[in-house]
Amino acid sequence: MTLVVQRLRSQLPDGVLAFGAEQPRLSWQVSASHPGLVQLGYEIEASETLGFGPLLATTGERDGDAQVAVPAPGGRLRSREVRHYRVRVRDVSGWSGWSDPLRVEAGLLEAGAWSARAITLPDDQGSRGQAPSPVLRRAFDVPAPIASARLHVTALGVHRVSLNGRLVSDDLLAPGWTSYRHRITTDTYDVTRLLTPGRNAIGAMLGDGWYRGRLGWDAADDRCRYGRELGLVAQLEIDCVDGTRLIVESDRSWRASTAEIRAADLYDGSTIDLRVAQPGWDAPGFDDSGWIAATSVPFDPGLIEQRFAPPVRRIAVLPVGLTPAGEGCWRLDGGQNISGWVRLTVRGVRDDRVVVRHAEVIEPDGGLHTKALRSAKATDEYILTADAPVVLEPAFTFHGFRYAEVETTAEILDAQFVAISSDTAPRASFECSDADLTRFHENVVWSQRDNFVSIPTDCPQRDERLGWTGDAQAFAATGSTLFDSAAFWTSWLRDLELDQDSALGVPSVVPDVVLSGELRFGRAGWADAATIVPWAVYESYGDRAVLEQQFASMRAWVDSLSRRRGADGLLVPGTQFGDWLDPDAPVARPWEAKADSDYLANAFFAHSARLVADAAAVLGDRSAAETYGSLGREMAAATWGRWTDHALETPTGCAVALQLGVAPDGERARAAGALAELVRAADGRVATGFLGTPLVLPALSEFGYLDECYLMLLRRESPSWLYQVRQGGTTVWERWDAIRPDGSIHPGTMTTPQDLPDSGEAHMLSFNHYAYGAVVDWVYRHVAGIAPDRARPGYRHVLLAPKPARGIDWANAAIETSYGHAAIGWRLDGDALTVDVELPFGTSGEFTAPVTAASVVSVDGQRANPVARLEPGHHTVVVTAAAVADPARSAPRQRPAGARV
Ligand code: BGC
Repeated sequence: MTLVVQRLRSQLPDGVLAFGAEQPRLSWQVSASHPGLVQLGYEIEASETLGFGPLLATTGERDGDAQVAVPAPGGRLRSREVRHYRVRVRDVSGWSGWSDPLRVEAGLLEAGAWSARAITLPDDQGSRGQAPSPVLRRAFDVPAPIASARLHVTALGVHRVSLNGRLVSDDLLAPGWTSYRHRITTDTYDVTRLLTPGRNAIGAMLGDGWYRGRLGWDAADDRCRYGRELGLVAQLEIDCVDGTRLIVESDRSWRASTAEIRAADLYDGSTIDLRVAQPGWDAPGFDDSGWIAATSVPFDPGLIEQRFAPPVRRIAVLPVGLTPAGEGCWRLDGGQNISGWVRLTVRGVRDDRVVVRHAEVIEPDGGLHTKALRSAKATDEYILTADAPVVLEPAFTFHGFRYAEVETTAEILDAQFVAISSDTAPRASFECSDADLTRFHENVVWSQRDNFVSIPTDCPQRDERLGWTGDAQAFAATGSTLFDSAAFWTSWLRDLELDQDSALGVPSVVPDVVLSGELRFGRAGWADAATIVPWAVYESYGDRAVLEQQFASMRAWVDSLSRRRGADGLLVPGTQFGDWLDPDAPVARPWEAKADSDYLANAFFAHSARLVADAAAVLGDRSAAETYGSLGREMAAATWGRWTDHALETPTGCAVALQLGVAPDGERARAAGALAELVRAADGRVATGFLGTPLVLPALSEFGYLDECYLMLLRRESPSWLYQVRQGGTTVWERWDAIRPDGSIHPGTMTTPQDLPDSGEAHMLSFNHYAYGAVVDWVYRHVAGIAPDRARPGYRHVLLAPKPARGIDWANAAIETSYGHAAIGWRLDGDALTVDVELPFGTSGEFTAPVTAASVVSVDGQRANPVARLEPGHHTVVVTAAAVADPARSAPRQRPAGARV
């Protein structure tokens, strides 16, 4: 046997059990007994039984090397259906053995499959303000030993469900945040082992979460954005070995009460009073006669969709340094800015209070800097009940913080920080000899973890935490590289489409809440997430399903732009966020960037039209490819015609002209030259905002201005990426100089743009915004030198092109592609470059050596061309007299006349 099929899996992330209405798509990896073997064909079988006795469906023997996202035979699943798949592959010598089987199952797919009602505590006070969390329970009998049991559960609000006193899963803040007006996701859990024959009990606690809790900075009107009543929707389906089938569903036979969670809000934190806990409340023997009957609340089961994005979970527990900070007060430092909370073990006496406050940074005078939280109280409170050690963790909340302060008369026995995130698997690694750059990469990894909490948010700490589309589009490529986030993005894109308005376009925040007026929909570089994010996900994972799912949305966004064109063919000017937070914009007016926002709007229009055309081409829609392709060209020409001079004056102007395809072929070299000149004149200082920054280094490197790239990338003074590392940042900052060179904290001054609800005390300063972390995409592609090929996406064809630079002696990067482990590592010895490459089965590589006229290139000891094709396996490439970028060569020269840098 020469090929072995491994890791057969579906598109569902690990730990998500059940399919919804989507057809399963299968991917597998292959290990080969020797290099040079290729997969010539495959066969997939589907069966209801593990023995693959009777087959449900088969692809039959197919020719081809498909290995990723192959539609499984047999189509979609029915509600509750269980299926097994297996695959085998063929090479020149014949068929491999069958893979290990993959088991999949389905949740409840149609509204009619739900008999559960949404229930809650009668007279719950939470619609008027923060109130005790409703607690619900029901005891029931199981007549016989259990063969299998599934809990299908969702909520209006967030839920925590237990069976016989044990939580049904590690998921947090379930069901997560979606566009609740259009869909609420449900989870299916295997609870077979939590039940026993005889008496059992199911219990649930409900929290406000995103459904009813605070959202946005308008404190006068920030609750109940989706509804006033919480509701648990639970359907427990038990199959006994004797064939009995039992369904326990949420209805008015459940009992309701409140317990120790007295208040819980995502922004404000939770208050837990252990004196009113009801021990054993979710166990069968509990006496609930003092509880009242649950009430049902209106709920449309047609809103329910099976979750396919990874749930939020605890992803790390960090040790904490504890120092006294005055009488009864302790300062905690976890050494890392996270999303999560403090877990304390304390011993005190009844009525002792424990108050935990959180902050990202410390004021120069030693206090917690809480101003950046704006109105988010980010405070967890506990009241103790007995003189015994107790572990304290908050409920239905999380905070963005590195430091905490604990005030208590109790004794602290232990403290840890618990980090939470949507549980996407780490996918990539990078390190190099520059410790600051390596740490910056780590900071971006953390900013992604911290901001991927159910949806991609701008920041995790203040009264915001919204799905800002501009931040997401800037970060989509990087985010796709760092974590296995295809399902995460695809789920959010579904909400983007659901909240999209056919006339006004795509919302600036998805799910669409909080904003009103012109800034709510259709803003350039924000709404373009509709096209940019699906394409980035497709390029990184090679699964065209995301384009299929989003194509109508992509197209509708561009169509809505087409309808906003004036007589000159350009967009009618409007209010924009623009190149948000250009460091040269007035501190309090981050939208007043150097680059004209109407220029940017038309450039993004051209780009989005082309992405629709590209997606149409992938999907085989030739007429749409043609139509949107020519619209893109037309918009690019009109934009360049109107703004040529302006575009060449600013770095964002040039970078946009190049990367968004606005500058015509004959002008591209001029635009790149102008950009390089601006970068040199500014000595590598970043002079771009949210829209321009991700595009500058790609634009420079495409034209060979590598000295300038590294001048920017390796700069340590503000504004620059590495400045924040030098200042002790452990995540990526919103403002380049959030901590100033003298150690003072940026005042964060901000005027609320017209059209946005006024926050009263306007202030904007976050230490955890991933948007500027977008440069990490460039770091993988060019510093390490590993990238997917747009034409053969998902790393089927891997572009390997390290660009060594003076000041960096070595760099390593690896990506867990769908095909397997792809890696590159290089070291520079004088001018001799040695590169090790690893490519998994099923891929190919193209190595582009950084050569000078004097270089000699060898691959695995054989003389080779500067551009060499690599087969799967391990290779060593040596380049003598390599081209090495040198930032020192691009020392500032004369400023070009009229340049504003
Ligand atoms: C957010 C940003 C967002 C911006 C809109 C800010 O408050 O934090 O990241 O994109 O508003 O311009």
